[in-house]
Amino acid sequence: MEQTMVSESAALQFTIEPTSNPTPADHRAELIANPAFGRVFTDHMAIVKYSESRGWHDAKITARKPISLDPAASVLHYAQEIFEGMKAYRTESGGIAAFRPEENARRFRASADRMAMADLPQEIFMQAVDELVKIDRDWVPEGEGKSLYLRPFMIATEVFLGVKPASEYLFMVIACPVGAYFGSGCVSVWVSEDYTRAAPGGTGAAKCGGNYAASLVAQRDSKSHGCDQVLFLDSREQRFVEEMGGMNVMFLRDDNTLVTPPLTGTILPGITRDAILQLAKDRGLKIEQTPLGIDEIFAGAASGRYKEAFACGTAAVISPIGTLRRTGSEAVFGDGKTPGEVSLGLKKALTDIQAGKTNDAHGWIHAI
Ligand code: COI
Repeated sequence: MEQTMVSESAALQFTIEPTSNPTPADHRAELIANPAFGRVFTDHMAIVKYSESRGWHDAKITARKPISLDPAASVLHYAQEIFEGMKAYRTESGGIAAFRPEENARRFRASADRMAMADLPQEIFMQAVDELVKIDRDWVPEGEGKSLYLRPFMIATEVFLGVKPASEYLFMVIACPVGAYFGSGCVSVWVSEDYTRAAPGGTGAAKCGGNYAASLVAQRDSKSHGCDQVLFLDSREQRFVEEMGGMNVMFLRDDNTLVTPPLTGTILPGITRDAILQLAKDRGLKIEQTPLGIDEIFAGAASGRYKEAFACGTAAVISPIGTLRRTGSEAVFGDGKTPGEVSLGLKKALTDIQAGKTNDAHGWIHAI
């Protein structure tokens, strides 16, 4: 007898509760005209609960407001928390599109797995993002470099002080209109020789809050050395470039090769990183994912072998690096102030796809 395979969807019915107190349109227009990163939030949020007995349930889009947590909620003690960073853009044709959201959903599941948290099916992740963007679509800013930054996250809410994977979680999505993460021009970067970010077998490849908390002391150091950002080296030998405080890093060699550290488990598998490697190939650049010695980078910047460097991530997009500094020496790319041509070309290729200005050859755009 012929059998029909029925695949069961994990999708939930979201209850939509529009806010009774929406931001007036003229105030919203002011707020989104020149948004600083992460300070202004939209009117709504998505929230879904999980318990071992009920699975994912109570999915809602509701007014953005504080949540109440029991002081013994396990996230407050053992930091079972993961998040994503992704963006929705206004497109040339007047629509709204998210960039590779399925990849964020996939990475979220991988992060949850690493942190022994509940598995969130991709369908629910996508529904929450889509429904939130739909209800807050007027908050998606228009204009170059602007977008609606989406922050999906999951926290452990079980009220228990024993150290074990929690049995209850909250998944939420909040959104904020954003402009550039860094100002224009080039960023300066402090190479941390005192702190590392992740060790083999650790949580470096997971997008968990703890990684970012652990980076803050090094980020503070970078400021005290007059830099915008920190670059971490490997934890074994402090010899090889890993990643920055919240973004990946790439270098352009004089043989037209874009070089970046490989994904060996201590580095976040950036979705922007992946897109840039693809776009670089499309543009005829060679790409190498290979361990990169920091001494080689410093020597190569001096000799002209390494011509450009940039930070890349959802928030950072492509942010050219002008200088790398470490105790006693400095590596300068180009004149240290002017973004390199290849970095700018890749940034344009990426942002043109995101804004629907060029053909989405890789199927990265998800219309909402
Ligand atoms: C992102 O790029 O989305 C991040 O999560 C990094 C953070 C520095 C904003």
